[in-house]
Amino acid sequence: MVLKGIVNADDAGRAAAMGVDGLVVSNHGGRQLDRTVAPLRVLPDIRDRVGDVLELLVDSGVRRGGDIAIATALVASTCMIGRPYLYGLAVAGQAGVARVIDLFAAQLRTTLQLCGVASIAELRAAAPTLVQRAAAAQPSGHGR
Ligand SMILES: Cc1cc2nc3c(=O)[nH]c(=O)nc-3n(C[C@H](O)[C@H](O)[C@H](O)COP(=O)(O)O)c2cc1C
Repeated sequence: MVLKGIVNADDAGRAAAMGVDGLVVSNHGGRQLDRTVAPLRVLPDIRDRVGDVLELLVDSGVRRGGDIAIATALVASTCMIGRPYLYGLAVAGQAGVARVIDLFAAQLRTTLQLCGVASIAELRAAAPTLVQRAAAAQPSGHGR
């Protein structure tokens, strides 16, 4: 069983304790609530909390191969897409969906090459030098 819509480590830990097989770290594309947390920001904390046992998929805002590289470097098992395949479908049906997937694959390959790694495993190993996490934003007061 895979639980979708987790965006914080406490919920992830609770789900893991209940025995789920995997989580989709997702804000559902921010379609209804567009100022919620970005899944990529919480992914490393969630991985730290649940360990290596669970599959961790991530979606919401994956738009190019580089996004997949960052997510997998930050220890996602893999990514999912929502609207991009629908855009391809709307433009050219099945061929459009295939084109979207080909674009993601080509962009991911190019990103790995430009990072000097030959596989996702190598990317993960090099992640500490390739991916920097921004410091957590401090809550700001109103009217500032
Ligand atoms: C038309 C549409 C309907 C969706 N319906 C649901 C839904 O019923 N339940 C759900 O968990 N997510 C739903 N989603 C969210 C997707 O499953 C997915 O999390 C999201 O689209 C990923 O973000 P992205 O569109 O930025 O790639 C929907 C997305 C779209 C575009």
